[in-house]
Amino acid sequence: MQILILGSGGREHAFAWKLKQSEKCEGLYVAPGNGGTAQIAENIQLNLSDFPALKRFALEKKIDMIVVGPEVPLVEGVYDFFQNDAETKHIIVIGPSKLGAQLEGSKSFAKYFMQRHNIPTAAFNEFTEKNLEEGFQFIDENKAPFVLKADGLAAGKGVVITESKTDAKDTLREMISEAKFGDASSKVIIEEFLKGIEFSIFVLSDGSNYVLLPNAKDYKRIGEGDQGLNTGGMGAISPVPFVDDQLMEKVKTKIIEPTIQGLKAEEIVYKGFIYIGLILVNKEPYVIEYNCRMGDPETEIVLPRLENDLVELLNQCAEGKLDEAIVQHSEMHGATVILASGGYPEAYEKGKTIHIPEDADTIVFHAGTKMSDNDLLSSGGRVIAVSALGDDLHRALAKAKNQAENISFEGKYYRRDIGYEF
Ligand code: AMP
Ligand code: GLY
Repeated sequence: MQILILGSGGREHAFAWKLKQSEKCEGLYVAPGNGGTAQIAENIQLNLSDFPALKRFALEKKIDMIVVGPEVPLVEGVYDFFQNDAETKHIIVIGPSKLGAQLEGSKSFAKYFMQRHNIPTAAFNEFTEKNLEEGFQFIDENKAPFVLKADGLAAGKGVVITESKTDAKDTLREMISEAKFGDASSKVIIEEFLKGIEFSIFVLSDGSNYVLLPNAKDYKRIGEGDQGLNTGGMGAISPVPFVDDQLMEKVKTKIIEPTIQGLKAEEIVYKGFIYIGLILVNKEPYVIEYNCRMGDPETEIVLPRLENDLVELLNQCAEGKLDEAIVQHSEMHGATVILASGGYPEAYEKGKTIHIPEDADTIVFHAGTKMSDNDLLSSGGRVIAVSALGDDLHRALAKAKNQAENISFEGKYYRRDIGYEF
């Protein structure tokens, strides 16, 4: 098969690495890709929102399957674009329809979907310019902390948690009236604050059946001990130590199955990954968020633990035959540590020369890198993801941290405490 991956991060390098291992993968392209994908596939400069350009490229290279990494092309309707065009209908697009992608693209859509299907999630109310005053009143009548969420996509930054009523009201006003997150915050969800421990599960759905990939937990804050600003994710571990069979049974019956059945009942086309962010409160799982794609950096440790041929699994997904698939995963424990540019997630410098020593104990995925002549240069906030497997979490972490230490570039920063709670 000729396969095209959309995206340019560590997640897409991990997809390329995994898909390339399949005998069924004959040609592999990544748009736009990075310095790591350039070494194992062909990078192609395409704008992921320019669907006609994607179509031209796909037809020229006889692409059979497109694996969509990030959420934006999905929310913009890349699946529907290919499906609704007679010339591209035969091309498999792994990812939901535009409507299905609303599970991530609109927090309000996701909350009402969960409400309709009795899926446990935090209680909520939604506000716009029209009922802003009711929003202030709602804050007055309830107890802090308040969780305010921009309805639309805000690159992972659209959630603000405030400890006081005054801050909550100021934030609500900034989000709605001053467009703090642009159009994304013209509607705001105010949610009940849930206190508990978070973890993530990854579902691959064919619309009727589903399989579960290994679970993971990511570390979103920039600083050690989960302090400081939110980032795209500074590391991940898989499996999550406290997630046992009993908990997974609850997650399946109370969350995953109602989600898949709900999508089907509402005729929402969904053949792709569903990343479900969960929080455990008094031993009960609640949905914090849905994403219509795989996580980054979670993919960088989930895929190394997956033993299936991924091309085969994705074909089964496209054919609606995931009931015939058996997911096999390594019993080893895994950890990923992200190396970031100094200053990230605020301003940082790019263009630093990166040196990566050989290391048989780790898998190095590139996130923000590019090749320039023969030099590998940093080109983003998150630069490298170092993944390792071990007999236990601590051995996996030790290997990943050792290589994280040995990789060099000016301003390199990483969290040394990934997995610290366990
Ligand atoms: P989200 O973008 O919806 O995943 O939210 C970002 C982060 O905000 C989550 O990973 C949680 O740590 C936190 N969060 C979101 N919703 C809630 C909630 N209802 N209660 C407590 N924390 C939350
Ligand atoms: N690691 C968080 C995300 O991919 O959204």
